[in-house]
Amino acid sequence: MAGLVGSTVGPSIEIRVEIADDLPAAMADPNQLEMAILNLAVNARDAMPDGGALTIAAARENVQTGHPSRLEPGVYVRLSVADTGFGMDQATLARAVEPFFSTKGIGKGTGLGLSMAHGLAAQLGGGLTIDSRPGEGATISLWLPVSLEAVGRDDGGRWAPPVVERRGRALLVDDEELVRMSTADMLADLGYEVVEAASGEEALRLISGGGRTDLLVTDHLMPGMNGVDLARAVRSLIPGLPILIVSGYAEVDGVAADLPRLTKPFRNAELAERLNTMMPPSTRSAQPAR
Ligand SMILES: Nc1ncnc2c1ncn2[C@@H]1O[C@H](COP(=O)(O)OP(=O)(O)O)[C@@H](O)[C@H]1O
Ligand SMILES: [Mg+2]
Repeated sequence: MAGLVGSTVGPSIEIRVEIADDLPAAMADPNQLEMAILNLAVNARDAMPDGGALTIAAARENVQTGHPSRLEPGVYVRLSVADTGFGMDQATLARAVEPFFSTKGIGKGTGLGLSMAHGLAAQLGGGLTIDSRPGEGATISLWLPVSLEAVGRDDGGRWAPPVVERRGRALLVDDEELVRMSTADMLADLGYEVVEAASGEEALRLISGGGRTDLLVTDHLMPGMNGVDLARAVRSLIPGLPILIVSGYAEVDGVAADLPRLTKPFRNAELAERLNTMMPPSTRSAQPAR
C-alpha cells in the first residue's frame, strides 16, 4: 500500500507509515479501503504542491459516549492520512465531505473523494473526521468499527451496530461507481438499505430475481438501457413503485415528464426533500440524518 501511495504522490513527498501493533481487525472491504486511502493521499498531494510529508497511521481507539462526531461508543481502528500542506479554511471544512464539493478547478477535482471515503466509513457504522487549519496541514481520519468476530476476543470495549431508522430497501442504479457510492451514502444516511446495480440490465435482473424493493433511484444516461426505459420496465413488474430519475442538467429534456426527477449534482437535503414528496407518508423523513 505504501508503495502504491508513493507512486501516486511522487518523489517530493516523504511518506511515513505508523501502524500500532495492538491493532484489532476492522470491518472493511480491502479494495474499497485502498481506494479511500488513495483518494486521501491524492488530496494530500494536491495540498502540498511544494512537497512535504504524508503520514498514514492506524491506531486503536476507544470511543466514549458523546464523541464530537457522533460516533457510537466502542472500539475503532482509526486510520488517518495526515499531510503538512496548506490546510483548509472554515468554509472548506464545513463542506469538504459534501458530494461534488471541490475547490479544485473544473476537470481537476470531482469533489467525490472525501464523500466516498466518508460513505465507506459510514456504511460500516463508523465515520470520517477532519482536523485542519489554514497553513497547518490536514489530518483526515477514517473510524472503522472493530469487526464483530474480533470483539469476542477483545476485552477493551464493545461494538454495537448503529441504530438507524429503517425506511425500506432502495435499488440504486448508476454506471459511474463514485457517483453511485456517494448517492448510496446519502440514501443510507436517510435510513434506506441500499442495493446497488451498475446498469439497467443488472437492476432488472435483481428485481426479477425477487427480493423486496421499496424505491428505485436511477441515473438516466447510462450505456445500454437508460433510466427512463428501466423505469418503464420496472413499473410493469412492480406497479406503483416510487421511482426517482437522476439526470444531468443537459439531459433533462430527454427524461419523461411524468417521472419524478432530480438534477445532478444534488445535496443530501435535496434528495431527502424530493423523496419526501414521492414516498408513502409512513416512510417520510423530515430531515436527513446527517
Ligand atoms: N488534505 C487536504 N488538504 C487541504 N484541503 C483538502 C484536503 N483534502 C480535501 N481538501 C478540500 O476538500 C475538497 C474536497 O475534497 P474531495 O472530496 O477529495 O474532492 P476533490 O479532491 O476532487 O476536490 C477539496 O477540493 C479541498 O478543497
Ligand atoms: Mg480528492
